[in-house]
Amino acid sequence: MQRLFRCSTAFLSLQSQTQGLRPGLLSVATPWLKLISLFLLLSTLSSPAADNSISYQRDIWPIFKRHCLGCHTEGKAKGGLRLDDLDALRKGGKHGALFVAGQPDKSLLIKQVTGDPPEMPENEAPLSAAKVKLLRDWIAQGGKLDAAPKSDRPPVVIPVTYAFAPAIASVSLSPDGKLAAVAVRSEIVLLDLANTNAAPRRLATDFDLLTHVEFSPDGKHLAAAGGSPQQFGGVIFFDPADGKRQTQRRVGKDTLFKGNFAPDSQTIALGGADGAIHLIPLDPKAPVKSIDLHSDWVLAVAYTADGKQLISGSRDKTTKLSSLETLKLLRSVDQSPDIINAVAADPLTAIAAGNARTLTGYDLKLALTGVEVGGSGNGAQPVNNRAQYLRAYEAQAEAVTALATSGDRKLLAVATRGPEIRLYQTADRQRKTVIPKIPAPVLAVSLNSDGTRLLLGTKSGDVQLYDTTTTKLLRTLTPVPVQASVTAAK
Ligand code: HEC
Repeated sequence: MQRLFRCSTAFLSLQSQTQGLRPGLLSVATPWLKLISLFLLLSTLSSPAADNSISYQRDIWPIFKRHCLGCHTEGKAKGGLRLDDLDALRKGGKHGALFVAGQPDKSLLIKQVTGDPPEMPENEAPLSAAKVKLLRDWIAQGGKLDAAPKSDRPPVVIPVTYAFAPAIASVSLSPDGKLAAVAVRSEIVLLDLANTNAAPRRLATDFDLLTHVEFSPDGKHLAAAGGSPQQFGGVIFFDPADGKRQTQRRVGKDTLFKGNFAPDSQTIALGGADGAIHLIPLDPKAPVKSIDLHSDWVLAVAYTADGKQLISGSRDKTTKLSSLETLKLLRSVDQSPDIINAVAADPLTAIAAGNARTLTGYDLKLALTGVEVGGSGNGAQPVNNRAQYLRAYEAQAEAVTALATSGDRKLLAVATRGPEIRLYQTADRQRKTVIPKIPAPVLAVSLNSDGTRLLLGTKSGDVQLYDTTTTKLLRTLTPVPVQASVTAAK
């Protein structure tokens, strides 16, 4: 407080000294004005919003950032529209203004994100009703742009109370099953499962979006990975015991996706938007290594049980195996008709699944030996022995969103867009149990060491803990506080 007080008196005296110097006044006073307005902004943000007013910075910008910036930025302004710059946003696109203040129904923005199916976001899942409502309410309230204007990259703001329940991007159970870690937008929430009275611990990050959270196999580290779209990717390692940061790394210019801790707990492998797998060591002095493999986003990476190979799945629809020793591709094991969202490995096979509703195992030994080359010169092609190394599981009813193996790799949990989770024995790929009636779609799933506990996170913001032996729901956990009124309207 003392410091701010001095700032404001300095501002006042500056103002009086420059009374006669009109042209210079603004430029000199602006930094102070900014400081003070920043302070006012911070003080309003840190108290829970008492009214229902929608803030561009807090509520709207995260929607644009998550769903729209891929196609509406400086270098890539589809339809002439940029959504990452306040002046451009005021101007609108090639059809003019983005919105008419006070009139959501007359606003291009609302027309584009509603309808059946909505035009925007192009070729992607429509915005949820809650998000469309936020956009409408924001325009109805005048569409004020209360953002930090200079960089047009507002700092990451973690709401005390969220306007609507954010989707759970990733979950992880500690090996002993006592702690649950949940990735919610820009924060990690640590939940103590042994002590039901303990308040959730919220670990803030400066990443816009966390995509992956995972306890190391030895339980000593908690990795949180993600980044800020078109800015940076990175990972932060926390100590799960006290929630303190151990180290952090930034890697590349875009968000990192899901990945996996190495069996020795010393490195995490993460998929990149650049088509590479990034190997990020815990030791801050050791170099980051990358394996450039895919032609599109690498959405999932897993270590094989022996820690010698990686399996990766991509938006380019392929599943690949690569070597940690040579940092090179060993083999493209499969090409799917659709995106691969999740991968896993048991002691003998690599497993991949995705939007094509297939769940496929690949016998590692057979897939990596006998890659014979037939023909010669340009006609040289590996002999396709796919049928020999393929180990299919039963077909899935819906697109697979996430896979998890137990620490002992005997059990595989499969989450889909449908309302059940299937559990398979990896040894014979037979279905062991089904956990029915879950709040679909599930985006994240995790098993503890012996596979007796399953944790899931849903798109609607629910986190649930199950006993896999009885399939009983043990607990429903609320990771972050949410404004009740808006949740009800969803
Ligand atoms: C995958 C790419 C992609 C994404 C993601 C995307 N858009 Fe678009 N958007 C386009 C393209 C392409 C056009 C131009 C369409 C045309 O002109 O026919 C467009 C045009 C628009 C326009 C019309 C601009 C004008 O004046 O013509 C609006 C408004 C718009 N988008 C809003 C959004 C919003 C809001 C989101 C996020 C919820 C979004 N878009 C996400 C590709 C995208």
